[in-house]
Amino acid sequence: MCGIVGIINSDNLKIKAINVLSKLEYRGYDSAGVSFLAKNNIKTITEVGKISQLSKSLTSTGYNAFDSVIGHTRWATHGIVSKNNAHPFSNQKISLVCNGIIENYSELKLKYLKNYKKNIESDTETIFLVLNELSKKIKDHNKLIQKLVSIIKGHYAFLIYFSDTQEIFSLKSGSPLSVGKNADGIYFSSDPSALTEYVNNIYHLQDGDIIKVSVNTISHLNGKKVIFENQAKVVNEFSKGDFKHFMIKEIYEQPHVIKKTQKYYDADYFLDFRNKLKDLTNNLDSFVFVGCGTAYHACLVAKYYFEQFTDIDVSCEYASELRYKNISTKKNSIYVFISQSGETMDTLMALKYVKSKGYTTIVVTNSLESTMVREANITLPTFAMKEIGVASTKAFTCQLLALANLCIEIGNIRKNISKKEYIQLKQDLKNIPTKITKILKNSSYIDKVVSLLSSSKACYFIARNIVFPIALEGSLKLKEISYMHSEGFAGGEMKHGPIALIDKNVLSICLNPKNKLYEKSSSNCEEILARGGKVVVFSSKKSSSKKNLLQIIMPKENYIDTPFIYTIPLQLISYYFALNEGTDIDQPRNLAKSVTVE
Ligand code: F6R
Repeated sequence: MCGIVGIINSDNLKIKAINVLSKLEYRGYDSAGVSFLAKNNIKTITEVGKISQLSKSLTSTGYNAFDSVIGHTRWATHGIVSKNNAHPFSNQKISLVCNGIIENYSELKLKYLKNYKKNIESDTETIFLVLNELSKKIKDHNKLIQKLVSIIKGHYAFLIYFSDTQEIFSLKSGSPLSVGKNADGIYFSSDPSALTEYVNNIYHLQDGDIIKVSVNTISHLNGKKVIFENQAKVVNEFSKGDFKHFMIKEIYEQPHVIKKTQKYYDADYFLDFRNKLKDLTNNLDSFVFVGCGTAYHACLVAKYYFEQFTDIDVSCEYASELRYKNISTKKNSIYVFISQSGETMDTLMALKYVKSKGYTTIVVTNSLESTMVREANITLPTFAMKEIGVASTKAFTCQLLALANLCIEIGNIRKNISKKEYIQLKQDLKNIPTKITKILKNSSYIDKVVSLLSSSKACYFIARNIVFPIALEGSLKLKEISYMHSEGFAGGEMKHGPIALIDKNVLSICLNPKNKLYEKSSSNCEEILARGGKVVVFSSKKSSSKKNLLQIIMPKENYIDTPFIYTIPLQLISYYFALNEGTDIDQPRNLAKSVTVE
């Protein structure tokens, strides 16, 4: 993960570097640092902790003598969180920042740094020292960088500055890096959206690119042309507005972004997409949905949708598993990759792997400038817009919407559903924002659930059928932002082991829509209550009141809107419980928004 920034031949370096790094902080926030750069002069400042910490350290000094800066925000992979392992790594000749992992760093250490006394913990520090060693023999910086690229293995993006020539090299292999230019300087960033207030024209580096900046000239080391694209301006995406956290702002944005996304699908988009789908789904054997974390839960919901409304085989894969599997090339399958960031390393690698086997790939994402969009054959966009809170909320419900639409289009094309059913399902999807608005308004139960969570040592989410993935998602939300132990279970599985966990100190949250499995899930609740457990049940059907049972009545659901309706209260209770616990909600410990390492 990690975020890197470079601002070359510009002014207000301190303010700009901190501004861009703050926008990249979602990529990691263990430590941060900057190197101010000038001819034969490098001044580096690093701090453990967040960008605000680094910003404080920078307030006292002017740094007026410098014309460029490179910076970094870290999510620790190799080496503990410490000032020593914080980037940039620098001396008076070279400064270097890296995003990614250098897989063969131990080998390189043995080969090039045998006589080194210092305990080197991190892969990037190893590369910095190796580069210094190599520079003793290779004086030409172009050749030096080419040599470096030839010996390192891994997924990375680097910015490397040489103070004698004032050249900056940027290298990319696997991790994202973009460069933009305007009259007041050249800007690099791991995420182009962090640069929108400075540059309109952006070049997204390709794997294998080595871009050199020398006296305001941007050139490709292998002679390729750097062609800039226009980047759309993004207004105010990094502001919390009147909200205390991005997460709660993003929860409340859901009716708006879902409406916007559905409007897009209802307009022209699906005309064109449907034609493509028609061709693609001729003789189709199966759909495979792929993702990680919350996006994987969206895949599981898609499986229920497709089983309900189409006759096509569907399976779901964790991207981290799929990328190392042998996959058959005999089947006529479409692989659908789901990702908020469009940059998750495992998902991206799984996509490239599947593509190399000749399969058609679709990506569902709200990050329309991301690497996955450039890699996949087809993009099914959502308009969740930028999601900043580490815990995914609006991106998830927009993914569900995209998948619901994809499913009913396929059902319609294959005549698995009638025209009348198709129109009704479309209408059900259109009604979702209104239902969510209602749920967001009627949240009087939250304090009660928060208080039950506060007096419990663990919380289990139990559900069946289409809400089972939502139980998994509810549990993930709770554990990632409040750090409370939590699991999600399929109701029918309780008797096969998990019920042993139930006692009076455990809270079970049961999702029980009024469908053909209502009675079965009610029995799960009874069995928990009979063992002294506490139960909160979310249901559209009222049952008789019982000791230790808190009922929360939900709006009436249809099959297709059920996962949306049951997601919202789980997002809210996780948020308010975490608020009560005083955790760092938008940037929970040990996590980062975009998992760009394995
Ligand atoms: C949880 C969460 C993560 C992501 C996962 C995949 O709230 O956000 O589990 O869903 O890291 O990320 P994307 O969707 O960017 O590929």
